[in-house]
Amino acid sequence: MKEKTICMVGFGNVAKAFARLIQRKENELKDKYDVAFRVTAIATGRHGRALDPQGIDLTRALELSAAGKKLDELSKTSSPDSIEDFIVQSRADFLLENSPVNYENGEPALTHIRCALEHDMHAVSANKGPVVHAYHELKKLAGQHQRKYLFESAVMDGAPVFSVFREALPAANLVAFEGILNSCTNLLIELMEQGKSFDEAVAYAQSIGIAETDPSGDIDGWDAAIKVAAIVTVLMDTPYKPQQVERQGIRGITQAEIRQAQKDGSRWKLVCRGEKIGGRIVSKVAPEMVTPQSPLYSVSGTSSFVLFKTDVLPGLGLLESNPSPDTTAYGLLADVLNILKTE
Ligand SMILES: NC(=O)c1ccc[n+]([C@@H]2O[C@H](COP(=O)([O-])OP(=O)(O)OC[C@H]3O[C@@H](n4cnc5c(N)ncnc54)[C@H](OP(=O)(O)O)[C@@H]3O)[C@@H](O)[C@H]2O)c1
Repeated sequence: MKEKTICMVGFGNVAKAFARLIQRKENELKDKYDVAFRVTAIATGRHGRALDPQGIDLTRALELSAAGKKLDELSKTSSPDSIEDFIVQSRADFLLENSPVNYENGEPALTHIRCALEHDMHAVSANKGPVVHAYHELKKLAGQHQRKYLFESAVMDGAPVFSVFREALPAANLVAFEGILNSCTNLLIELMEQGKSFDEAVAYAQSIGIAETDPSGDIDGWDAAIKVAAIVTVLMDTPYKPQQVERQGIRGITQAEIRQAQKDGSRWKLVCRGEKIGGRIVSKVAPEMVTPQSPLYSVSGTSSFVLFKTDVLPGLGLLESNPSPDTTAYGLLADVLNILKTE
């Protein structure tokens, strides 16, 4: 049986869900995939670091994290100060990069991923930043080291947005796409349809952990724009930044407009669009009123949806309902297993 080691940078909602997932699937992974995983390193921002070449006790790491405690007591060797030295010292087969997204420049995740690939580790990440700021560079670097950089969970969590093109659609060229790629705003608009004011909807979404303390990344369309940029960059093979997406968030939608749309049998949605026209990309994130004839109309709550138009399949849709850190963690595991298939 193969033994594969993992270095985790970031031990938040997604990474902890991944830790629980590989514990839950331990026997299945051994029986069906002939692999056992050992997490040898975990780094956080403010909650310390753990390094143990024999394998960190994940149950204890999860307990310490749940108690808001630091992870350092799990270390069996001293931890270097710099995060790059930490990644190198982990000598792991995989880096799992799950630090917070940076819309501006993808850092520090970009540095972490670059460091891992330069030291012959595969890199798997749910972080959108490095995808839009350095996908082509990282792909080339991975190739030079005969390693892989995959990021399925960066868009629509565990839904196979990137791997469906990579694995299942050879010689299909993406021409255009439309979709609902931000769950938070989709939920906020639905709460307003149910009669809540914008502020009440935001407060409720915050109380159930869907909206962040500063929800502007979602509300002003940045999260949607970075996902549009990631799809254009990877699936249209064109480097594209979130700042290039024409972007309007949902702050301007009034309750009166929402009521009027309901009377007309329509719904407001924050719609993402991208199209390749000649060699040029046209992209947009903006609120639109959609009718029941649109596949976007029935995308409810925190669900997300994308409809791809390719030169061979004119309409192929992917719907993800009930996303959570668990579904994001599954996307990471799928990337890891897909990489192992190629070894
Ligand atoms: N949540 C989802 O379902 C979801 C879905 C798709 C994609 N993503 C992406 O997945 C990534 C992780 O999301 P999350 O929800 O797990 O975030 P999170 O709960 O905020 O966790 C972030 C983790 O990164 C650590 N961290 C912060 N700065 C760091 C640094 N400089 N070096 C090393 N670690 C650092 C934090 O440590 P401290 O807490 O100690 O600061 C924490 O452990 C993000 O890029 C996010 O955009 C998340």
